[in-house]
Amino acid sequence: MSTVTAESVREALSHVIEPELHQDLVTLNFIRNIEIDGSDVSFTIMLTTPACPLKDVLRSESEREIRARVKGVGSIDVSFDSEVKRDGRIEEKLSVPIKNIIAVSSGKGGVGKSTVSVNLAVCLARDGAKTGILDADIYGPNIPVMVGVDRAAGQKNGKITPAVAHGLEIMSMGFLIPKSEALVWRGPMLHSAISQLFSEVAWGELDYLVVDLPPGTGDAQLSLAQLVPLTGGIIVTGPQKVSVSDARRGIDAFNRLEVPVLGVIENMAGDIFGRGGGALVSEELGVDFLGSIDLNGDIPSGSDGGVPFVVSHPNHEITGVFRRLARVLAGKVSVLDYGRD
Ligand SMILES: Nc1ncnc2c1ncn2[C@@H]1O[C@H](COP(=O)(O)OP(=O)(O)O)[C@@H](O)[C@H]1O
Ligand SMILES: [Mg+2]
Repeated sequence: MSTVTAESVREALSHVIEPELHQDLVTLNFIRNIEIDGSDVSFTIMLTTPACPLKDVLRSESEREIRARVKGVGSIDVSFDSEVKRDGRIEEKLSVPIKNIIAVSSGKGGVGKSTVSVNLAVCLARDGAKTGILDADIYGPNIPVMVGVDRAAGQKNGKITPAVAHGLEIMSMGFLIPKSEALVWRGPMLHSAISQLFSEVAWGELDYLVVDLPPGTGDAQLSLAQLVPLTGGIIVTGPQKVSVSDARRGIDAFNRLEVPVLGVIENMAGDIFGRGGGALVSEELGVDFLGSIDLNGDIPSGSDGGVPFVVSHPNHEITGVFRRLARVLAGKVSVLDYGRD
C-alpha cells in the first residue's frame, strides 16, 4: 500500500467505476481538488447532474478504494459539485440556452401526464438543477393552474419572460392563445405557435426543460420534434393492462421521430385501477420501466390549488418516488449526452 499523497489518492480513485458511464472517476475527469492534511483526505466529485442517483454509491466506493489502497488514511471528506452536460444539438438548432429537453407524452389524456411533468420538474429543481417546464399541451394547457400562475412574467428585449414558481421557469401555450382558439389549430398554425415558445421566449440557462406534450401522437409532437432536438422522451401510462396499446402509440411516435425513449412511468397505481400496466408496457415494448406512482386523493387537490404534491408533501412516500424518478431520468440524460460526444 502507498502512503497518503494526492497521487496515491488519485490512483485509488481510478479504480472507482461510474456505474452508468462504465468508466473510472479519474478518466472521466470527475475528481477535483484533492487535498491532503496530514493523514486526512478531502476531494470533490464533479457530477454530471446535481440530481445524481449515484452519490451514495460513489462516495462509499471512493472511500473503500482509498482505504484499501492507501496506508494510514485518517478521515475522508467527499464533496459533490456538478456541471450538467449539454445536448449540443439544441444550441446548434435554436439560439436558446437550454442544455437538455425532456418530453413527456402519453397515449391518451387524463393519465396524469401534466401532474408527473410538474412534480418531476420540481424535484429536479430542488436537487439544484436549473429547470423549466413548457406546457405544450395546446388542447389542455393546465400546467399554469397546477403551479398557480396565469401569465408569463413579462417582456424583456422584445421576448416573453417565463413565469417563475416553485423554483421553475414556466411557459404555457395557455399564456399565448385563448383556449377556444387553440382547439381548432392544426398543422402550420400549431407549428408556428410551438416555434414561438422557443424563439420568442427568453428562457434562462436551463439544465433541463421538461415539456408536457399534448396526449396522443398528433401534429404537436411532430412539430416539436421537427423544431427542437428532444434529448429524451418519457411515456406516462395508466396501471391497467389496456394502457399498453395507448403507450405503444406514444413510443412508436418517439421512435419515428428518433427521440430516445427514457422509459415508462406508471401513474395512479393502487387498489382501484390496479397495477402492472407500466411493467407490461416496458416488457412488451422493450423500454425501461422507471417506476410507479400510486393513486392518492391529495394529488388533485394540491394541483388545483397551484401547489404540486412534492411541495405540499415533502416527506410523503410518493414524493420519494418522484424524487427517485427525477434522479433516474437525470442520470439517463447524462448517459445520452456522454454518448453523443
Ligand atoms: N397519482 C394520482 N393520484 C390521484 N390523482 C391523480 C394522480 N395523478 C394525476 N391525478 C389527477 O388526475 C387528473 C388528470 O391528471 P393530469 O395530470 O391533468 O393528466 P393529463 O395531463 O394526462 O391529462 C388531475 O385531476 C390530477 O390531479
Ligand atoms: Mg395535461
